[in-house]
Amino acid sequence: MIIAIDGPAGSGKSTVAKTVAEKLNFRYIDTGSMYRSVAWKSLQKNTAFRDEDAVADIASKVKIELIPGKDGQLVFVDGKNITDQLKVEEISRGAAIVAAQPMIRDIMTTQQRKLGQQGKVVIDGRDIGTVVFPQADKKFFLDADPKERGRRRFIELKGKGQSGSTDLPTIIKQIIQRDHEDRSRKIAPLKQAKDAILIDTTHLSVDQVVEKIIQIITPSS
Ligand code: C5P
Repeated sequence: MIIAIDGPAGSGKSTVAKTVAEKLNFRYIDTGSMYRSVAWKSLQKNTAFRDEDAVADIASKVKIELIPGKDGQLVFVDGKNITDQLKVEEISRGAAIVAAQPMIRDIMTTQQRKLGQQGKVVIDGRDIGTVVFPQADKKFFLDADPKERGRRRFIELKGKGQSGSTDLPTIIKQIIQRDHEDRSRKIAPLKQAKDAILIDTTHLSVDQVVEKIIQIITPSS
């Protein structure tokens, strides 16, 4: 069984997907962290995010491991735990830039299909229900008001001590900008699959969203 959860940044999809996976005893795959890992490695190698050939070379060679941890998924790149370095703005921007390039998407999509084919997965991203697994058993699209999404991202970064001098209005602006890029790119843009169930999470807690999804997947629970 494959459960696809797509949506924009701050819609709650990662936290929700991780919790749904825990409850069902499924594997959780956060595809955003794969694009972030490619951006991280490119930065390490001083490679421009827009240099498609060079970034594709990195993407095809880099070893990305997604390992379930106590507080969520751990991300190892070439054997190094970089989980805490992935949410900073430079990497968010970089991930959106590399993710808009066809060669990189091809490599990532192939890897994601391999991971998902093992079955019993909850996989989240932007194009899971539309491109990576159009035949997923259940598809959800999470969305929320941009102000609320910015507030969540701000709290997340602050909690990790990574908000720096960036204030809430700036984070909201960055989120709106990234949404625009993700929705308007030519290849695999962020959009709700026709058969995905839309959940507006603006006024819902993580538990409420998880509950809704579990009810839909296993109506008898
Ligand atoms: O989900 P997250 O915010 O970590 O994703 C970072 C970026 O990676 C997104 O803004 C998007 O550009 C890209 N992404 C994508 N397709 C996915 C997952 C993420 O294009 N399946």
